[in-house]
Amino acid sequence: MAAYTPAGFPDPKACGAFYDTRTTIFAGDEMMTLEYSSVEAQRDLFDRAIEALPPNGRIFDLGCGLGHLPAYFDEKGIPFDAYHGIDVSPAMVQRARERFVGRDAFRFAVQDVLSEPLSPGIADVGYIISVLGYPIGDDPMESMMGILREVFDACQDGIVFTHLVDGRKPGLKFTSDPETLAALCEKRLNARATIHDNGVDFTYLLALRH
Ligand SMILES: C[S@@+](CC[C@H](N)C(=O)[O-])C[C@H]1O[C@@H](n2cnc3c(N)ncnc32)[C@H](O)[C@@H]1O
Repeated sequence: MAAYTPAGFPDPKACGAFYDTRTTIFAGDEMMTLEYSSVEAQRDLFDRAIEALPPNGRIFDLGCGLGHLPAYFDEKGIPFDAYHGIDVSPAMVQRARERFVGRDAFRFAVQDVLSEPLSPGIADVGYIISVLGYPIGDDPMESMMGILREVFDACQDGIVFTHLVDGRKPGLKFTSDPETLAALCEKRLNARATIHDNGVDFTYLLALRH
């Protein structure tokens, strides 16, 4: 199971079921549950994400997993007004809630934005970190653009998300060229896109601002 990665998922719910299973199998090893190679790899992405788009006001986090991003904000003493994380895996959401028991500024919910859309302007800054790496549905690019549109419209300042570059690691399931995806986001979402690619890592980030 550790090495097993599916080719993709028919819909987000199936992706949630995959991560539900991982929370049981890898209980006690959170990085394995999340498919990160190490805590440092996760931290590095968080560092790059807040550099690309600093947290501000109301934070939205699609694919919140085990709640590590808000825990990282906490640890760094990063100020913000409220945090709202959603995930398609009920087990992940349950574990994230347990991390923040009694903290009213932190809300977690099970939600698939492709079937339950978000209201516009409910947050200021959005993060989608290590979420869009599997192809979903018959047209994965359209599924991804649908998710990005929902979160971008929901966040008044903008969003930052990660995606994968082809040719830097074998076995990646869903990749895109940074310039092509940035141009598509500018055209389809009417966003101002900034690419954050260090030319080495297989993950790059795109910040989209209104
Ligand atoms: C690799 S984990 C990353 C978790 C977290 N963002 C982090 O970096 O620690 C991917 C998470 O995204 C969730 N996910 C995948 N597709 C999703 C979707 N369409 N909507 C919401 N959550 C999704 C999965 O259930 C899983 O918890």
